[in-house]
Amino acid sequence: MFKLQELVRPNVLKMKPYSSARDEFKGSASIFIDANENNVGSLAGGTYNRYPDPHQKKLKKRIAEIKGVRPSQIFLGNGSDEAIDLLFRMLCTPGQDTMLQLPPTYGMYEVSANLNDVQLQSVQLTPDFQVPVEEVLRQVKPTTKLLFICSPNNPTGNLIEPERVEALLRNFNGVVVLDEAYIDFASEPSWITRLDEFPNLVVLQTFSKAWGMAGLRLGLAFASEEIISLLDKIKPPYNINEATQELALQALEKEEELKYMVEEIIQERELLVQALPTLEAVLKVYPSDANFLLVQVTDANRLYDHLIARGIVVRNRSSLPGCEGCLRISVGTLEENQQLLQAIREFR
Ligand SMILES: Cc1ncc(COP(=O)(O)O)c(C=O)c1O
Repeated sequence: MFKLQELVRPNVLKMKPYSSARDEFKGSASIFIDANENNVGSLAGGTYNRYPDPHQKKLKKRIAEIKGVRPSQIFLGNGSDEAIDLLFRMLCTPGQDTMLQLPPTYGMYEVSANLNDVQLQSVQLTPDFQVPVEEVLRQVKPTTKLLFICSPNNPTGNLIEPERVEALLRNFNGVVVLDEAYIDFASEPSWITRLDEFPNLVVLQTFSKAWGMAGLRLGLAFASEEIISLLDKIKPPYNINEATQELALQALEKEEELKYMVEEIIQERELLVQALPTLEAVLKVYPSDANFLLVQVTDANRLYDHLIARGIVVRNRSSLPGCEGCLRISVGTLEENQQLLQAIREFR
């Protein structure tokens, strides 16, 4: 049985959250001299002399409409990296609790675990990068509070089969964090439609990928109201700045453009999937449901240097167990991809 109250750190349950000036006064007024802001003006212009809405109400309302969830099921973070860190701080007592990850996968789960002094358990994905469900469940200890599943997975690009995710949700009594940073490029739908079915599910998404807003730092966690209210309780009060809130609200009105941009990226990805295997240096292109490709090549280190010498930077993943000989290549523009292909063609 999943019992959230038994998983949450006792100090988190006990503590009172920071109460901001804007929390303590509700209503309308004309003079705000309650938050030690600069009432004379802002050198950044606009209303940036004022603290942003700590609850991001307008933004959450609009995201809720678009995503088909309730605003109370949404947490907004300074990138999804902030949500990852807060999940550790909410659930894992340092030096005592453990988390389970499925490498090769996104590096921040491990970094956050180390930062929070949380013991790391790793179960390697299968050779075709799927989750060995039985093995994962065997590894679960009473102290295992968190399980990270990345789907589509970074750096491998593939989706984790829904039946496997479901089996883990049903049989693991800690919190399952399903990182869907790349879901907009995928052929399967998001799991956010199934939040009400799984009280132990946290779905992470981000504005950094499909929405093209990595520089603004806006990540999302979708979960039960109970989990979201705990994340809200422990977050820094003004974690989403005003400029980000405003620009994200504007971006959310551009769903059509989002669709075109995603289509273009997927189309370019498929062109690379066709073209790369025809090159001598390329041994294998792994199937991808993301905006990047994992590509096994004849000599990853030398090809990496060869591309750098031509001003092209890819990610060398060849030292990661499971990704031997592989480069991770983000899908670029048509022009960039042509230059990449030409540069690989010239590799000897
Ligand atoms: C799987 C995955 N999750 C999360 C992130 C981080 O996203 P954000 O920019 O929202 O912190 C990345 C970034 O590369 C990622 O690959």
